[in-house]
Amino acid sequence: MALATVHSRAQTGLEAPAVAVEVDLAGGLPALAIVGLPEAEVKESKDRVRAAIANSGYQFPTRRITVNLAPADLPKEGGRFDLAIALGILAASGQVPADALDRYEFLGELSLSGSLRPVRGALPATLAADAQSRTLVLPESNGDEAALAGAGCVRTAIHLADVAASLVAGSAGSEPLWLEPPEVAEPPDLAQGADLRDIRGQAQAKRALEIAAAGGHSLLMIGPPGAGKTMLASRLPGLLPPLSRADALEVAAVASIEGSGFKTSNWGRRPFRAPHHTASGVALVGGGSSPRPGEITLAHCGVLFLDELPEFDRRVLEVLREPLESGYIVISRAARQAEYPARFQLLAAMNPCPCGYLGEASGRCHCTAERIARYRGRISGPLLDRIDMHLHVAPVPHDVLMAADAASEDSATVRSRVVEARQRAIDRQNNDNAALDPAGIERVCALDKSARTIMEQAVARLGLSARAYHRILRVSRTIADLAGETAIQRTHVAEAIGYRQLDRS
Ligand SMILES: Nc1ncnc2c1ncn2[C@@H]1O[C@H](COP(=O)(O)OP(=O)(O)O)[C@@H](O)[C@H]1O
Ligand SMILES: [Mg+2]
Ligand SMILES: [Zn+2]
Repeated sequence: MALATVHSRAQTGLEAPAVAVEVDLAGGLPALAIVGLPEAEVKESKDRVRAAIANSGYQFPTRRITVNLAPADLPKEGGRFDLAIALGILAASGQVPADALDRYEFLGELSLSGSLRPVRGALPATLAADAQSRTLVLPESNGDEAALAGAGCVRTAIHLADVAASLVAGSAGSEPLWLEPPEVAEPPDLAQGADLRDIRGQAQAKRALEIAAAGGHSLLMIGPPGAGKTMLASRLPGLLPPLSRADALEVAAVASIEGSGFKTSNWGRRPFRAPHHTASGVALVGGGSSPRPGEITLAHCGVLFLDELPEFDRRVLEVLREPLESGYIVISRAARQAEYPARFQLLAAMNPCPCGYLGEASGRCHCTAERIARYRGRISGPLLDRIDMHLHVAPVPHDVLMAADAASEDSATVRSRVVEARQRAIDRQNNDNAALDPAGIERVCALDKSARTIMEQAVARLGLSARAYHRILRVSRTIADLAGETAIQRTHVAEAIGYRQLDRS
């Protein structure tokens, strides 16, 4: 038998499409040709596979070896197929039994010594292999991540020699030498990171965070440096409901395809991403020559915090508009497209003026009206229109900051109210209030006469756009849900109007 097929997986978006590694041995001058991989990857892969086989105590066949990675048109990165290529060569040359290969899939980069190096995207590959009822064999250092899939279908190994020996033993009816990945607990229901309790005063800002958490609303905080905007923002993930298992898996899968990989200590945690304002469009939404997820995908199911919003490149902010509404991003490269999830909650912060101290009693701000207008104008109206709530955050006075702890609520207490309010929205419309479309708003945000009156006054006084009007209704719905009310009342609408502070200027 001079032909062997080994199953492996590529990686595009959050998917792990199947790849068949076919190895053919023929007479003729000894040579190794790999087709179906990008040219630049081929040479390195050849060198690694050749050395790894020799250094694992096996023979590198002195035949004409052709390796084909099918389908040809799938984008492939080199290293992850090394193990499958090496096993294909060993099977085609009769050094490991070829009949056992069909039940397995293999992923792993080889070092020259034959030891296995981790690959990107082990978790999506595990889920895909499980769906095919095949056992996935991975480098041991990918085991933690693969174990999250909770499938019994993962085995790990440290060295090419262990994998080959396990196939020989398995085929001879004895116990293979695979390692089992570790057990993983269900996502913990934990308050994550910093607690709301550590923030003195700021009752209104805490209230706004609670509403944002309960409805999934985006929030922009405007305030001078040191007012506590960053501190407040970092508390939002801890106010959100615990992740469902499916969402926790998606968050882990996103980390799995990222360079640094998934850390088990982050299992069940909502991400908090705070890209710098010099970030490029590609860094923010994803892309590149071999497409990578951007910050909006890394913030999937969690919080994207854009500090100093006006400092971001305007064109970079514009690309946020679409995923903000759709919850995903499609990245096109040449003829291929990769889709990444991007259901994130947007938090933003900005100074009130270029110097930062507009409105401070000391009068140290000398920014002209024109400079202030230009500064605020850097955030386009259409993006501002898509932010549900705006809030001025003033620094707390020194006596409040220094006061011996006045009993302040902790994140867990607020989170329990958030969970209840979110459940009301789910029971009613199977979605967050922030995601209500105009028809949904029509159905679940009816206003009585007095509520309608203050709404009409606000529209006339502030000259609100239709979008802003709908945002007020969604936020009113959330405020009513937090209060446990079926009907939206006048006070709920009044509070929601209070969170459109930039519409006034
Ligand atoms: N209300 C507050 N309670 C406790 N500490 C505060 C408060 N406001 C500000 N601080 C302190 O001031 C620091 C600066 O706050 P920060 O969130 O960075 O402000 P901003 O992002 O608005 O510039 C915080 O790290 C914190 O130590
Ligand atoms: Mg800050
Ligand atoms: Zn100023």
